[in-house]
Amino acid sequence: MYTLPKLSYGYDALEPYIDKATMEIHHTKHHQAYIDKLNTALEKYPDLINKPLSDLLRELTSLPIDEADKIAIRNNGGGHANHSLFWEIMSPTKSVDEKLTKEIIETFGSVDEFKEKFTQSAVTRFGSGWAWLVRNDTGKLEIYSTANQDSPYLQGHTPIIGLDVWEHAYYLKYQNRRPEYISNWWQVLKLL
Ligand SMILES: [Fe+2]
Repeated sequence: MYTLPKLSYGYDALEPYIDKATMEIHHTKHHQAYIDKLNTALEKYPDLINKPLSDLLRELTSLPIDEADKIAIRNNGGGHANHSLFWEIMSPTKSVDEKLTKEIIETFGSVDEFKEKFTQSAVTRFGSGWAWLVRNDTGKLEIYSTANQDSPYLQGHTPIIGLDVWEHAYYLKYQNRRPEYISNWWQVLKLL
């Protein structure tokens, strides 16, 4: 059974960029709900519980299971994987990944150009979804966004940086101001 991962910082630790109430609801209600629904979807398939979630998502389309269960795993397994990464890459203190920074500069020209492209992807995602920096199947870094809770693992990519642009991630503090949330979010991304 999947369980809610603990945060390595308090709900108020990312203030003033992400407020305490949003963090607490996001973690204990939204993320927990994805986990509960994922566990329910997997009840029929005890073998799949032992598979790493990334592999489950990578192999999802070829699994011999009901289509409705595939959709539930895609949405809720994606939700669990995406949020787990999201909590992990944020921190009140920076812990810059030098190797990643170098690769970002090589790929996108500079960290600022990377941020600009990623921001564009996050701002223009219509409705609910995520902006991503992934390692694609050829090993290259790539920026794109996905709808809903679709994980990059579904297309064989490995997520490195993911930004939640669902309204539940920012509405209490930012209301409709998604660009302001995104611009402030760089302050709590620990990797860059
Ligand atoms: Fe979320």
